Amino acid sequence: MNTILITGASSGIGKATAKRFQAEGWNVVATMRDTAAGGDLGALDNVLVTRLDVTDAGSIADAVAAGIDRFGQIDVLLNNAGYGAYGPLEAFSVDRIRRQFDTNVIGLLEVTKAILPHMRANRSGTIINISSIGGQITFPLGTLYHGTKFAVEGLSEALHYELEPLGIRVRIIEPGMVRTDFGGRSFDFARDENLPDYDPMAAAMGRLFAKLAADPSSPDVIAGVIWEAANESGDRLRFRAGPDAHALLEDRKAQDDETFIGGIKELMKG
Ligand SMILES: NC(=O)c1ccc[n+]([C@@H]2O[C@H](COP(=O)([O-])OP(=O)(O)OC[C@H]3O[C@@H](n4cnc5c(N)ncnc54)[C@H](OP(=O)(O)O)[C@@H]3O)[C@@H](O)[C@H]2O)c1
Repeated sequence: MNTILITGASSGIGKATAKRFQAEGWNVVATMRDTAAGGDLGALDNVLVTRLDVTDAGSIADAVAAGIDRFGQIDVLLNNAGYGAYGPLEAFSVDRIRRQFDTNVIGLLEVTKAILPHMRANRSGTIINISSIGGQITFPLGTLYHGTKFAVEGLSEALHYELEPLGIRVRIIEPGMVRTDFGGRSFDFARDENLPDYDPMAAAMGRLFAKLAADPSSPDVIAGVIWEAANESGDRLRFRAGPDAHALLEDRKAQDDETFIGGIKELMKG
């Protein structure tokens, strides 16, 4: 029986993926910062709920060891934990900037490093990294979030070269807007009342996000794409997830920088 280890399985895409893989007959190591949020998952067969904070190296080592101990092997790692820091760069303290990169980038790398010796010994495994449409395109006031997701895209693509000869695959998932708590507790918006220069752009961004998020995908749709990425043979690297992701990223590919970015600026006026 195959096993997946998921970070950030307390809600949203992580939880939906845990349920999907469990329903398909996989073992699931559902990791989260606060295991109290995993009660419903813990009640399912073949699911181990265990603590993992991607910014806490000890918790990463413990969770990986617990997963291997319980199920014998981990076949797929889903690096899903993350949140969005938005707002003018000047409004962010360095600590708040570090927290965004520590969670979305360094944490992902640390969890990957912790699992690689196991996958390398097995000469098999799949590492699936949750990026975003925001790893290929940017929106105003997204300097930090897009910085992290562009990093996830680049590091994943580079990593795939070094792991492929060892039988380990890397996949990148690029969801569009998804109905989760991303716009709620996972949204770290910075505003500084001493920086009113940015207020008009923040207001325009609020309106644009509301429009873009009018018809979000269900997290189950993203879980379906993750299922495909885990099970598809071959060396496909990128998987778009959700109709809006397909449309936006297709446009991005078809247009030069000036045209696409000009389109975003037009949208901000609307
Ligand atoms: N929703 C979207 O529109 C969208 C679009 C593209 C990409 N994404 C990406 O999808 C991923 C999942 O987000 P979501 O939409 O499912 O939102 P969500 O429901 O808010 O889930 C975010 C998850 O990340 C976890 N997390 C945050 N910091 C963590 C840390 N230090 N250690 C471990 N877990 C941590 C949260 O845990 P707690 O419960 O402890 O807070 C939660 O489980 C993120 O990487 C996000 O960037 C989302």
